Amino acid sequence: MKRLSAVVAGYGMRGHIYSKLLKQLSEATDIVAVAEPVDIRRNLAKKICGISDDALYLDWREIASQPRMADFAIIGLQDADHYEAALEFIAKGYDLLLEKPMAVTPRQCKEITEAAEKKGVRVVIGHVLRFTRFYCAIKEIIDSGELGEIMSIECKEGVGNEHQSHSFVRGNWRNEAECTNMLIAKSCHDMDIIQWLIGKKCKKAHSFGSLSYFKAENKPKGAPARCIDGCPHGETCPYNAVKLYLDDKKNTWFRGAATLDLVSPTDEAVEKALREGPYGRCVFSCDNDVVDHQVVNLEFDGGCTVSFSMNAFNKGGRTISVYGTKGELNGVMGTGMLSLYSFETRKTTEIDSKAMGNTIMSGHGGGDAGIVRDLIDYFGNDIKSKSLCDVRTSYENHLIGFAAEHSRRTGTVVDLEEFEANL
Ligand SMILES: NC(=O)c1ccc[n+]([C@@H]2O[C@H](COP(=O)([O-])OP(=O)(O)OC[C@H]3O[C@@H](n4cnc5c(N)ncnc54)[C@H](O)[C@@H]3O)[C@@H](O)[C@H]2O)c1
Repeated sequence: MKRLSAVVAGYGMRGHIYSKLLKQLSEATDIVAVAEPVDIRRNLAKKICGISDDALYLDWREIASQPRMADFAIIGLQDADHYEAALEFIAKGYDLLLEKPMAVTPRQCKEITEAAEKKGVRVVIGHVLRFTRFYCAIKEIIDSGELGEIMSIECKEGVGNEHQSHSFVRGNWRNEAECTNMLIAKSCHDMDIIQWLIGKKCKKAHSFGSLSYFKAENKPKGAPARCIDGCPHGETCPYNAVKLYLDDKKNTWFRGAATLDLVSPTDEAVEKALREGPYGRCVFSCDNDVVDHQVVNLEFDGGCTVSFSMNAFNKGGRTISVYGTKGELNGVMGTGMLSLYSFETRKTTEIDSKAMGNTIMSGHGGGDAGIVRDLIDYFGNDIKSKSLCDVRTSYENHLIGFAAEHSRRTGTVVDLEEFEANL
């Protein structure tokens, strides 16, 4: 196998996860440079990636402005920064692992797609669900023909009430102007999976949704702007930041985001973050405007219909039902269990997707490890797994989310072809 080299732009949560996996899963990849402005994260990158100080940069532009120094670039920057970085790295001839969403507007996604096609570089979007055992098993069952022709899919993304509060009320993805809308920031995974499973083009999109709960009018009487300042509702409020960030020592995800220390955030640093940073705010006193519940209806080529729902008001997790002419498949991602009912035999078979395939279970149901493993084969030896797709397919699947969001805003049914033609 060809020895691969990579550069990392943005050593945050995702940059760190991918770098660790590259090191664990493959003896065949060298990380040769990392750009990250936060000291504590850059120091971590130095240790994890085993690189010297002169391979560490403060800004990804310092890497992209040099002659190409690696086979591929991992872009783990925040959503709004993907566009500029992707275009610069593509221009230099890097293959990309570009975190989802591809970019924050349909036009930016289109430009990235066209630039990659013109330059002949491969772009893999961080759509990790495609690489989980759960969705790979569903794809395998659909492609085997056991369900017959797929007539309809119902699926739910339960974001989880605490996850919503952390990411979409207090955190990085709370405000559309700073980032993008909820369907693109979060449910672009689901739009992508739905199209992958059906294997046809989406024709029409329709959506409703709003921000109903996490807003100022629902703030309980007497609640201060910051939970740590003695909120009278602190005992019973599920969003009390003191409980979620300071008391729950095991939640390194929340504590790492709040303090920027991804590995060992101290109580002192967490407390400072709750007093001064965005994660200490009362969930009813934030500058959030992205929806907390949204439904999407889709129609695909050939008439297959899809009904998708995301909302914050649950423990978290995805479920799916696939209805075909020969049978029905129901699945719960959290347990990995699938239930297949055959119309012919009138029998139900229980399938444990965790026992299928060879994906190492870890972040995102094995998806993080799966994408890294598959992209090493792809970038190294041009072996393309079933889960991988070309950049144009990823672009078209992002368009489903953008079109559905356009529908929500305009109260119209959006024709995907017309939507793209009018970009
Ligand atoms: N695939 C998935 O399932 C998944 C899950 C979570 C997040 N994401 C996406 O991954 C991306 C990163 O998310 P994250 O949670 O790691 O965020 P993060 O904020 O932890 O990481 C982004 C990093 O980029 C750094 N950065 C900022 N400006 C920079 C610059 N000029 N040069 C170099 N680095 C710079 C920041 O300091 C930060 O450490 C986002 O687009 C997010 O939507 C994907």
